[in-house]
Amino acid sequence: MSHALIEDHDLNHDPEWIQEVHANNYIQSWSVQGSRPRVITGGAGSWFWDSTGKRYLDFESQLVNMNLGHQHPGLVQAIKEQADKLCYIGPAMGNEARSELAAMMAELTPGNLTSTFFTTGGAAANENAIRLARHYTGRNKIVARYRSYHGASAGALNLTGDPRHHLGDQAGAGVVRILDPYCYRCPAGHPDPCPVCSGGPHLEEILMYADPNTVAAVIMEPIVGTNGLIVPPDGYLQSVREVCDRHGILLIMDEVMAGFGRTGKWFACDHWNVVPDILTTAKGINSGYVPLGAMTVSESLAAWLKTRAFPGGLTYAGHPLACATGVASLKIYQEENIVEQAAASGEILMGLLKDLADKHPCVGEVRGKGLFIGLELVKDRQSREPLVPYNAKGEKAAPIPEMMKFAMNEGLYLSFFSNVIRLTPPLNIARADLEFACEVLDRMLEIGDRAATA
Ligand SMILES: Cc1ncc(COP(=O)(O)O)c(C=O)c1O
Repeated sequence: MSHALIEDHDLNHDPEWIQEVHANNYIQSWSVQGSRPRVITGGAGSWFWDSTGKRYLDFESQLVNMNLGHQHPGLVQAIKEQADKLCYIGPAMGNEARSELAAMMAELTPGNLTSTFFTTGGAAANENAIRLARHYTGRNKIVARYRSYHGASAGALNLTGDPRHHLGDQAGAGVVRILDPYCYRCPAGHPDPCPVCSGGPHLEEILMYADPNTVAAVIMEPIVGTNGLIVPPDGYLQSVREVCDRHGILLIMDEVMAGFGRTGKWFACDHWNVVPDILTTAKGINSGYVPLGAMTVSESLAAWLKTRAFPGGLTYAGHPLACATGVASLKIYQEENIVEQAAASGEILMGLLKDLADKHPCVGEVRGKGLFIGLELVKDRQSREPLVPYNAKGEKAAPIPEMMKFAMNEGLYLSFFSNVIRLTPPLNIARADLEFACEVLDRMLEIGDRAATA
C-alpha cells in the first residue's frame, strides 16, 4: 500500500476488504497468519453480531474480560466524558480519574492492600509484580505453576506454564515450577492427605531443593483460568500462604482473569480469606473498554516504596481514559449488584450444566465458582481418559474444532483449552441467555458423546 492511498482510509469498507487486510497486513495473536475471520460490526450486552447480521451469544466475554458485556452505556459515557476533559497526562501528574480509581482499589481489594501501579494489561502487571518482589526481597527465584498463564511479555511468559511458554522460554530466568492442585487429575495420585492438592507439603519440598532463601515470590492464579478452570480445594491457598510467610517469600495472586466478580466474589482469594502481598488484575477492572491493568501492593510494600524508587514505569501508567472507565465500571458493579448477579447466575448455570452432565457421558466433571466454569470432557468417566490429549493439534484434537464450529453456527461463542470447555459469560447475563447456551451445549455434546465411544 502506498502513502498516496491514505486518503482512501475512511473506515467505510466492505467486509471482504477487511478480511483481506486482516489476512495480509495484520498480525493476529498466537496464530498462523492468513485467516479471514468473521467481521464483527456491533455488540450489545451479552451478544455481538457480524457483517451478515448473524448474532452470537458471547459465552466467553471475549477474552474473559468483558464482565459487563458489550457497549455498556455507563462505560461508553465515561469514555466520552473523560475524552472531553483530558485524554492523557503523564503518570507523575495528579489526575482525578487516576486518584479516584487508586482509592477505590484500596477499598475493594482484600486486607491491607493499599497502593496500586496501573498498567496497560495483565502481563505488565505481573512483570512489575515480580520485579518489585525481587527488589524487595533481594532474591531472584519465582515459584510458578505448570497449568498457568501469566501473559506474553518476556518475564510473564517465563512464569507461564502452559504450552505457549515454549515459544519464549528464557533459560535461567529464575522460575521454579510446582504442580497444580488439579484434584480431578492429581499428579500425585491424590492420596489422603495429598501433598500436592493440600499446597504446603509440595511447595515445601520444592523450596527445599531450590533453597527458600533464594526465592522472592510464589505467583499463582487462585483459580486457574485459561488452563482449564482448576479450583483448589479448601485450605490450599491458606497452606501456601503459611509456607510463604515462614520463609519470607511474597505471595502474588494473579487475578487478571478471576478478579472483579468473575467467581461470585470481588476477588477469587476472598473465597478463602487469603490476602496476597501483591494482587495483579486487568480485564474485568473495566471490561476491556480501554487497556488497563493493575498491581496492588500491601501496606508494608507501599511503605518500603516511600524510601526508595519504584523499579518500573510506563508511558501509559494511570492513563486517564482507562482509569475513568475503571471508576465507572466499579460504580456499575455496585449500582447493578454485579458480583451478587455473578454468584446467582453461576448457581443457575452450574445446575443446568449438572443436568447436561447427567445426560452426556463425555462430560467427566463440571467445576468452577460463579461464572468461571469448566466442563471437562473425557472418553470414559471411569478411567477419566481425556477426550483429546493435552495440547493436542490437528487430527488428534478432533472433535474439539467440530464442536466449536457447531456452537458458532448455532450462535454460541465458546472457548476450549485441550479437553476443557470454558464457560465465562458476562456477569450480567440474562437467565434466558443461560438457557439458550445450555440448549446449544446439549446438542453440541452429542458430538462429544459420539467421539467418546468411537
Ligand atoms: C491469569 C492471567 N494473567 C495474565 C494475563 C495476561 O494479560 P494481558 O493479556 O492483558 O497481558 C492473562 C490473560 O489472559 C491471564 O488470564
